[in-house]
Amino acid sequence: MRVIVLIGAPGAGKGTQAGVLAERLGLPHVASGDIFRAAIREGTALGLEASTYIDRGALVPDEVTLGVISARLSRPDARAGAILDGFPRTRAQAEAFDRALAGRGNRVERALYIEVGEEELVRRLAGRRICRSAGHVYHETAKPPRRPGRCDIDGSQLEQRDDDRPETVRARLAAQLAPMLDVVDHYRGRDVLAVVDGDRSIDEVGRALLRALGTAPTAR
Ligand code: AP5
Repeated sequence: MRVIVLIGAPGAGKGTQAGVLAERLGLPHVASGDIFRAAIREGTALGLEASTYIDRGALVPDEVTLGVISARLSRPDARAGAILDGFPRTRAQAEAFDRALAGRGNRVERALYIEVGEEELVRRLAGRRICRSAGHVYHETAKPPRRPGRCDIDGSQLEQRDDDRPETVRARLAAQLAPMLDVVDHYRGRDVLAVVDGDRSIDEVGRALLRALGTAPTAR
């Protein structure tokens, strides 16, 4: 089982890169934020609870998040492993995840920290647009859709994520950077951390991540 964790501040490019890695490595892309947003769209009890935290830029409580991830990883498509995007997000989540994996004779193979400066994070979040039906990710300048306002993949309308409004972005960065650095320290202590400079183009960051995993990037 290959368990690869992507760490990065809001807007660092975890989702963008996780999609590429998942395709290249043949593993599912498991994003805690996507699971919460789907639950919010469907109006489930989980969605209602998660939205009270997400709307103000706070983290969803650890026990809720751990339950969601454990259920997702028990699905058949994750038998060979997963690319985790946005989880673990606190030291307590990382420790509980280590224990759960150890119980099955596994461990995190690599934790990849995409490091991006705060000004660039704000720029990326302000310009991000996602598609209404499946959350495919674009950026007004760094990754524009072929047809303005429409998803290249499913044609649905592009919109701004509710938590990408400037006031919520500030709250997310203020609340979430310190716990994220705890997670970085956790994996450094476990000797599985690789730090990748995320202040580069999407393709360059992708190639650096593949190299950190010992996988040769394809020529482009
Ligand atoms: P989540 O959905 O995980 O949000 P996030 O961590 O804030 O990360 P983002 O999705 O905002 O950014 P990203 O790093 O994926 O960047 P992206 O690839 O889109 O979580 C949402 C909320 O759910 C959290 O705030 C929290 O409340 C809750 N939550 C989730 N997980 C949780 C957990 N484990 N515990 C507790 N609560 C949890 O890229 C951003 C933009 O930049 C895009 O427009 C993209 O096109 C562009 N871009 C990407 N790379 C580059 C590049 N190299 N150059 C230029 N532009 C780029």
